[in-house]
Amino acid sequence: MIVSPLNYSGNKAKILKHIIPLFPQDVNVFADIFCGSGIVGLNSPCETLLLNDKEKRILNLLKYFKTNDLDKILFEIANLIQIYDLTDTKSKPKGYYKIYANEGLSKYNKDGFLKLRKDYNEKPNDIKLFVLILYGFNHYLRFNSKNLFNVPVGKMDFSKSLYDKTIEFIKFLQEKNIKFTNLDFRDENLYKTADFFYFDPPYLITNAPYNASWSQKDENDLYEILDFLNSKNKKFAFSNVIFSNGKTNEKLKIWSKKYQICEIKRQYTNANYRRKNLSNAMEVLIKNY
Ligand SMILES: C[S@@+](CC[C@H](N)C(=O)[O-])C[C@H]1O[C@@H](n2cnc3c(N)ncnc32)[C@H](O)[C@@H]1O
Repeated sequence: MIVSPLNYSGNKAKILKHIIPLFPQDVNVFADIFCGSGIVGLNSPCETLLLNDKEKRILNLLKYFKTNDLDKILFEIANLIQIYDLTDTKSKPKGYYKIYANEGLSKYNKDGFLKLRKDYNEKPNDIKLFVLILYGFNHYLRFNSKNLFNVPVGKMDFSKSLYDKTIEFIKFLQEKNIKFTNLDFRDENLYKTADFFYFDPPYLITNAPYNASWSQKDENDLYEILDFLNSKNKKFAFSNVIFSNGKTNEKLKIWSKKYQICEIKRQYTNANYRRKNLSNAMEVLIKNY
């Protein structure tokens, strides 16, 4: 399985091993309609992908990785690390930086990170955003309501393991045949070429930042599209939660009964925010094949 160097909110990294085997094997073009970090489509057994998301910044970053030479990308990252005087544990001898308890490397990186964040927010570009993710708290990608990147400095840096993960991810992305689109899921152009569709929309009843803008109308429109695909004998799989932390998505519970509901059993390894978010949840993959 290939993992993303960034920690995209709501990404499916932890359940890939449960959902990938549930996808059909004989797919020519796989459409990941709410692709986010792209890891579901990228890990599918299909070589030709359509990756779509309404969030332009994540999509542009994926496009940047796909279309630029790996050495150029690594050079640009190293250049920004130098310009903003950020730590570089992978190139320095062990013990070069004193790692402070609870703060990790944040003491060293705070000033440079905040300067980079300011510069990025004034004049956004893909590589600056990626370096902010590398040095930001938990490698999150998050913007406030004014569309400014607002993640604080993290405890870690572009360590050897993150460097290896980044290279592996970029190489993998470059090997696949990918079309990127930045469309709303209702756009009919998304449904013209693929023969399998994966849907991982915001969830109505959990708390990821982008869920706030997801309404019951969006949810209803999505059910209509899924029913339409089904009526045309097109295969789809749809990730969601039927209940979570005392809330139930009643409409989903009823609507999904006409399809196959596969319950996904998540293994929680640490107490992160998603654990709180999804504990006592019934997470499902709903499919029509
Ligand atoms: C649960 S996340 C997808 C996570 C992804 N599967 C991953 O593993 O990284 C939901 C995504 O839906 C996108 N989204 C929200 N509303 C959308 C819309 N109307 N059309 C297309 N994408 C939308 C969000 O930007 C977000 O990236």
